[in-house]
Amino acid sequence: MKVLIDPYLRGNPAAPASAEKLEPDAIAVTHGHADHLGDAEDIARRTGSPVLAVSEVARFLDRRGVLSEGMNIGGTFRVADVSFTMTQAIHSSDITVTDPPTCGGDAAGFVIDDGIRVYHAGDTALFDDMRLIGDLYRPDVALLPIGDRYTMGMREAAIAASWIRPHLVIPMHYNTWPRISQDPAEFREMVEMLCDSEVVILEPGDSLEC
Ligand code: NI
Repeated sequence: MKVLIDPYLRGNPAAPASAEKLEPDAIAVTHGHADHLGDAEDIARRTGSPVLAVSEVARFLDRRGVLSEGMNIGGTFRVADVSFTMTQAIHSSDITVTDPPTCGGDAAGFVIDDGIRVYHAGDTALFDDMRLIGDLYRPDVALLPIGDRYTMGMREAAIAASWIRPHLVIPMHYNTWPRISQDPAEFREMVEMLCDSEVVILEPGDSLEC
């Protein structure tokens, strides 16, 4: 199954893909900010793929005639044989694609399980219950934001990796703009000092087979 997470493509200076060409089976949106909700509405409209999001974001899409599946923190929803569990994230979540912005409820992350368990933390600060996410869901892969300023930075993300203990850690949410500029090689060194997880640095457009 092809799952698209936070498809921010149009207007994204780092995006190699075009929203018009993507054919996902499901779209998971972590929160309402324009650099996450992004092109979800247009892609869902064109493909008929459901958008999985926290209730407030799902209702917003629903009102605009987009197929959406509302969830909330701690719950699991299945699309075919893939399960999506919504996890906590410490972040704000107003829907900024409207003017003025609309209330987007709570920001979230996802654990997506299709046999390989992938934890996408969303935009978040470090929080202690990431230990629980590690213990409960045992992610094989964790995607963690390292950009700082709007999310946790490298030091906090390295601590998160040591708590979650995935096989692979993929840093995300950095170098889109100068404001969140980071050196992922430095992040790799930090993680290697704290735990056995392998850091995989992906450039925009790269792929990884697990
Ligand atoms: Ni955000």
